[in-house]
Amino acid sequence: MLNIVLIAGSPGIPSRVATAADHVAWRLQEQGATTATFDVNAFDPAALLYADTESPAIRQYLARVAEADAIVIATPVYQSSFSGVLKLLLDPIPQNGLRNKIALPIASGGSPNHLLVLDYALTPVLSALGADSILNGVYVTSSELSRTETGYRIGEAIRARLDDAATELHTRLVGVANAATPASTYRGARDAATLIRRAAG
Ligand SMILES: Cc1cc2nc3c(=O)[nH]c(=O)nc-3n(C[C@H](O)[C@H](O)[C@H](O)COP(=O)(O)O)c2cc1C
Repeated sequence: MLNIVLIAGSPGIPSRVATAADHVAWRLQEQGATTATFDVNAFDPAALLYADTESPAIRQYLARVAEADAIVIATPVYQSSFSGVLKLLLDPIPQNGLRNKIALPIASGGSPNHLLVLDYALTPVLSALGADSILNGVYVTSSELSRTETGYRIGEAIRARLDDAATELHTRLVGVANAATPASTYRGARDAATLIRRAAG
């Protein structure tokens, strides 16, 4: 069974980007995958702040990340970059901890102007963690979600983009599992390893 970990990096409750990530998780579950979502509320703040890898919650989190076939990282845009909370959640992951995993980034910003956060902020950190390949991410602007009494409701257009991203991730994982869709022939992804090789000449 496909096993996917979602890391939601907003300190907000409720959170727009966590709502988007929840939708992707739900779609993946519909397609038969197992998902686990981690956000800042899953941890003792001191353990997270000091990257205490002996803390039971962080150990369990790292074990789930290690077992995952894919990682979805979700962050609000803060000061034109990803949030500090997302960084706290990524820092305990060991070097190359995302090796052999596919990554899907999701970002939510107040304006569409920071769309490239997906490329200039999230792609490098996912590459540094060794992600095998990084799918084209989804950028959500705040106005694409409406506030409800209990949280946020996602609009139709963004719902369709999130559905497409979840399907793309699932298709890619099934392809890898069956070795029927090798990573190098897949058109919808940016292959981090290939990019690094090209950059290195
Ligand atoms: C401290 C802070 C910094 C922000 N910086 C940006 C920014 O640089 N660019 C942007 O488009 N939105 C910025 N925003 C708006 C959030 O990215 C946006 O409201 C996002 O949808 C919040 O997601 P959340 O509800 O999951 O936390 C900022 C918000 C805060 C609180």
